[in-house]
Amino acid sequence: MSRVAVYPGSFDPITRGHEDLIRRSLRFADRVIVAVADSSSKSPLFTQDERIQLANIVLAGESAVEVRAFKGLLVDFARDVGATMVVRGLRAVADFDYEFQMALMNRQLYDELESVFLVPALHLTYLSASIVREVARLGGDVSAFVHPEVGRALKAKFAR
Ligand code: PNS
Repeated sequence: MSRVAVYPGSFDPITRGHEDLIRRSLRFADRVIVAVADSSSKSPLFTQDERIQLANIVLAGESAVEVRAFKGLLVDFARDVGATMVVRGLRAVADFDYEFQMALMNRQLYDELESVFLVPALHLTYLSASIVREVARLGGDVSAFVHPEVGRALKAKFAR
């Protein structure tokens, strides 16, 4: 039986931190589905289609990884794709409350879905998509934190 993990998020945009967690997930999952949330309530910088397109470019070499759009409850999506695990990253104590609350709610809604928390590589621990957006918006160099194609997309967004 193949073990399917869902890695959900806004991915606004996908960073090296996300990439790191996706590759770590492949150590225990046969397939990882990167579930790009609608996140319209968060007024994302990139549209959902743009975020999916960037994730597809970044993850093009990973045959066991699939990028999909999702809207609505994560547990419904997970059930539909046959996932038994949901992967989230824990970077710092600050992430804990929100992640713990989400994990407990997801378990309440769908007990067969197990939440798995991964710790990113040390040099990516303080990385977040929001800080990448902020630095890029102010004209800073984000090349250490995102794939070159994502860097180009950020430049294009803020050049407008
Ligand atoms: O990258 P983010 O923005 O922290 O990702 C948050 C996300 C999309 C994983 C979370 O908001 C989510 O799962 N949304 C779907 C709605 C849902 O299932 N809510 C109930 C669980 S708390």
